[in-house]
Amino acid sequence: MPNIAFISPKGGAGKTTAALLLALGLAERGRRVALIDSDPNKPLVRWAGLPGRPERLSVHAAPTVPDIREAAAEARRLGPEWTIVDTEGSVRGAMVFAALRFDAVITPLTGSAMDAVEAIKASELVASFGKRQGNHLPHACLMSRVPAALKPRSLGAVVAQLRAREIDILPTPLIEKEAFRALFEVGGGLGGLERLGLRGVAAARANVAAYVDAVTAMIAPAQALRRAG
Ligand SMILES: Nc1ncnc2c1ncn2[C@@H]1O[C@H](COP(=O)(O)OP(=O)(O)OP(=O)(O)O)[C@@H](O)[C@H]1O
Ligand SMILES: [Mg+2]
Repeated sequence: MPNIAFISPKGGAGKTTAALLLALGLAERGRRVALIDSDPNKPLVRWAGLPGRPERLSVHAAPTVPDIREAAAEARRLGPEWTIVDTEGSVRGAMVFAALRFDAVITPLTGSAMDAVEAIKASELVASFGKRQGNHLPHACLMSRVPAALKPRSLGAVVAQLRAREIDILPTPLIEKEAFRALFEVGGGLGGLERLGLRGVAAARANVAAYVDAVTAMIAPAQALRRAG
């Protein structure tokens, strides 16, 4: 039962979108998924109030970090195979790993140098927390809102900055897609947008599938360790 947290000290980097897309992609593969919305603005709770939420995807509100434990307990009663926590874009939101045991933390960032600085900060927070707990907490950055036409090379400066600090970057970026924005207006998953006739949904779906594969591969070593021990 992997627990994944999305954190970034900087707001608007794409956490909520990345959390929802991971949950939708997993639900599409038949997984039961619990999303914990630990943003006081409750974007995922609002999404869940729109029509079309897949039945095997539940959303639980945790308006503050201390609420996360209770929300996780509520989620556990539904027997999720994955628990995904979205946090608010602040250092306070980034303290989420004090509330729950996580298998991995993901920090979305856009291609800006300012985002890179914040992502490095997030990585340091995660590392120092892992050290205090006496275990290594896997952390990776996720390039998000990447223009489809942009070659990965164009993100070179940011990527180099992260790599120089040995910060992992998921091999699949999330592309800037109207469909991803529309999910929060229309509700439900990408299938519903396809039926509405929105353009570019097939490419969005392919992007999500590759992204879900990348996250699954990221947590595979930790999962194997858990099973062994
Ligand atoms: N891949 C994407 N394609 C298109 N729009 C995106 C994408 N990712 C994020 N956005 C848009 O960018 C804005 C910020 O994204 P999002 O809310 O996911 O970021 P966040 O990190 O959760 O922000 P906050 O820190 O405020 O919680 C939203 O309007 C969202 O719809
Ligand atoms: Mg958010």
